[in-house]
Amino acid sequence: MAETASVANLRVDYIDRPLGLESTRPRFSWTIEGSGRDLKQVGWRVQVAADEAALGDGPCLWDSGRVESRRSFDVAYGGPNLVSRQRCVWRVSLWLDGAAEPVVSGASAWEMGLLSPDDWAADWIAATPPVEGAGNTPLPAVLMRRKFATLEQPVAARLYVTALGAYEISLNGARVGDAHLAPESTDFRRRALYQTHDVTQLIGVGENVIGALLGDGWYASAFAWKNERGVFGAPPNRLRAQLELTFADGRRETVATDGVWRCAPSPILRSEIYDGEVYDARRELPGWSAKGFDDSGWAPAFPVETLDLPLSSQVSPPIRATLRLKPVSLSQPSPGVFVYDFGQNFAGWARLTAEGPAGTEIQLRFAEILGQDGQLSTENLRGAKVTDTVILAGRGQETFEPHFTYHGFRYVELTGFPGEPTLAALEGVVAHSDCEVTGTLETSSSLIDQIWRNSVWSQRSNLFGVPTDCPQRDERLGWMGDAQVFWDAASYTMDVDAFTRRFLGDVRVAQRRTGGFPDVTPYELRWDGSPGWADAGVILPWTLWRKYGDTGVIDEMWEPMVRWLDWIAANNPDHIWRHKRGVDYGDWLAVDAVKPGDETTPKDLIGTAFWAHDAALMAEMAAASGRPDEAVEYAALRERIGRAFEAEFIRSDGSIGNDSQTSHVLPLRFGLVPDALRQASVERLASDIAKRGNKLSTGFLGTPYLLDALADNGREDVAVGLLLQTEFPSWGYMVSRGATTMWERWNGDTGDVSMNSFNHYAYGAIVGFLYRRLAGIAPAAPGFSAVEIRPLDDPRLDRGGGRYVSVSGPIETSWRRGDDGRFSLDLTLPPNTTGRVRLAARPGQTLLEGGRPFDGAARDETGALTAEVGSGGYRFEVAS
Ligand code: BGC
Repeated sequence: MAETASVANLRVDYIDRPLGLESTRPRFSWTIEGSGRDLKQVGWRVQVAADEAALGDGPCLWDSGRVESRRSFDVAYGGPNLVSRQRCVWRVSLWLDGAAEPVVSGASAWEMGLLSPDDWAADWIAATPPVEGAGNTPLPAVLMRRKFATLEQPVAARLYVTALGAYEISLNGARVGDAHLAPESTDFRRRALYQTHDVTQLIGVGENVIGALLGDGWYASAFAWKNERGVFGAPPNRLRAQLELTFADGRRETVATDGVWRCAPSPILRSEIYDGEVYDARRELPGWSAKGFDDSGWAPAFPVETLDLPLSSQVSPPIRATLRLKPVSLSQPSPGVFVYDFGQNFAGWARLTAEGPAGTEIQLRFAEILGQDGQLSTENLRGAKVTDTVILAGRGQETFEPHFTYHGFRYVELTGFPGEPTLAALEGVVAHSDCEVTGTLETSSSLIDQIWRNSVWSQRSNLFGVPTDCPQRDERLGWMGDAQVFWDAASYTMDVDAFTRRFLGDVRVAQRRTGGFPDVTPYELRWDGSPGWADAGVILPWTLWRKYGDTGVIDEMWEPMVRWLDWIAANNPDHIWRHKRGVDYGDWLAVDAVKPGDETTPKDLIGTAFWAHDAALMAEMAAASGRPDEAVEYAALRERIGRAFEAEFIRSDGSIGNDSQTSHVLPLRFGLVPDALRQASVERLASDIAKRGNKLSTGFLGTPYLLDALADNGREDVAVGLLLQTEFPSWGYMVSRGATTMWERWNGDTGDVSMNSFNHYAYGAIVGFLYRRLAGIAPAAPGFSAVEIRPLDDPRLDRGGGRYVSVSGPIETSWRRGDDGRFSLDLTLPPNTTGRVRLAARPGQTLLEGGRPFDGAARDETGALTAEVGSGGYRFEVAS
């Protein structure tokens, strides 16, 4: 009922109350809370003003007036362009169907960032004057502090800060924010991110102090297996910070990094992303960041010339410590060597508590697996030293967490510990980009639930500012292929909208002049254009738009996406992607491959299938974003590629390419198989799976779509069989071997150690299928304003369901098969959405809702019973 509804989750650019927004035409979204059936919005009005009072009786910056529309997201701001630092307050009024009076939301606010380089008064400062050739050795971290006084209490205080390196910053001794490893990884030659903090509460009248700890971070760590340092140029340990105090009369004072800052050595002797941190607690200076500390012996900071480096505001969730884990066991495989097992592979670090004489040196090493002898096995970490060293100050019980490094591990080895450690001496700290969890799932199969959990843990471990391939070895790079295959799953499990938008900003700056999208972002490997990898430049924006309904991402990426498609077309006039396929990884790590990139499926087939897919997605995105001509153009391109694909790869008996599983999966999923041959193709795929003993043979590119290709073409039975398989190669095999995260290789337990991560999310892509076909929740329109509810029905599974918090509100399903075999589904759809339910049924069966025959039930082409519903709670049953 309309009276009981309220407006919730007011978001600007899909972010809750952002500071430092940069879009001058942001987009609004909201959800409606209420439990009535068929609750829907028929009109909205957005008001934006400088303060809350003005929302009541103006003047507004923008007042949309009443707009007759059901749209509750992707509503673009229509006022005058916004300017740096501008604070905006907004609210929305909604008219619900059948209600005369609008429901009015509370006020929400956002604030603009520093939009122009001229807004930065702060110098870059360093603790030492620049030295030629520096930047090639890890530097000790430094302390920096700056005193300042205020005569009056400011009404607002904002701290804008970034570094060439990584920083932790405090005001009057209190840590500002809870981000780790800021600023996150970018191509620092082209852009860096700054963070905006509201520090109003931390400023006092009289003396105040800003303190910063500054280490190497991503900027200065050696990169990947090349072990190159200083790839970004200027020496590290440079800070740029600007504190702006606004007083009641509107006056603004700025305290910025300059030559007045003072510097001293810190207890961190070395810190490095891959290698770890060395911390000497004897060098701690208690109270150094608080008021009243005597810094007269500290050296002045040096303002340093730093090339014009574009700074962008970080509005994506920071890397945070989100969970603490207790170890599950402790062993001593050899005298003085203690090994902790956390029972879970994850990314983060360990928190150590110890007591001992000053100078005691304790070492922590990290690994994903143990050898036969119970010792750490670290060969798969390659060049990464992943070692933290702590030197005790001898001040009683001391606790240590590293500042500027992270590790991917399940086991920690402790040596040099004074005495015998207990389990309580170590805790695991789980860290990652703190994207909100939006999806959960549960079935009657504990195996499938564990596959889902493993994928979620690999997702947690690999959202580290950018989407990384792995968190442990000397790599941890933004591999585009891995992200692309995983993003359907990722965007169910977590709200990755802002996270991905930030990453796509890096993709844009990394795009080659020719139009090639990179294979890895942001790090410069100079590899680009590989099918299934570079295509992430199109697939990620499309995935965001489908999941979050935001056409802003299409606008941001449109021109780069066009250039990418133009580049493929320019090199491949006959519409088969034969030329310029970059490094051409193919169906990477497929089961039959001896070497990772072996051609187990023809690579021109893979490339052409992805090109067709790109063209189809471009046509859809063009239509959605007000580009009708381009929609026609890309649909025509898709047609041409489709015809060429068919002529080149598909034969009249339904065989495709070399008849590998991936040869069928990609064209089936991308709609490239003519209707008349679909069944033949699916049967070939199914029979290859059967021949192998109900086993898959796919690699990175085929696997994500394998189960859909089967289930969408009438072979749900084979799809479920693959899911429940526990012999090699399968997801279940990993679980049967004790995996707690997804493995990089199907044969992680026996594969080549030089490339064998146990925490790689790519094969976790299958979780997208689990949400769509086991929870049964899929978008039927962008942003889930229409939902397809289509749980599959298989006698081996008696129960399933899930919950997904969409931008339209939470969607919930729970289904079971009763003792009598009767299939029932509980469904809740949020206000302002519609649903199309499709439940498998035998001839003669009927659809009940709430115990009564459902009016309007129909059958689709597969024989499934269908029902169109509005919002609210439903109980469906398939009855005989
Ligand atoms: C990474 C991958 C990546 C691949 C490219 C590997 O080293 O870990 O996951 O996609 O290289 O071929």
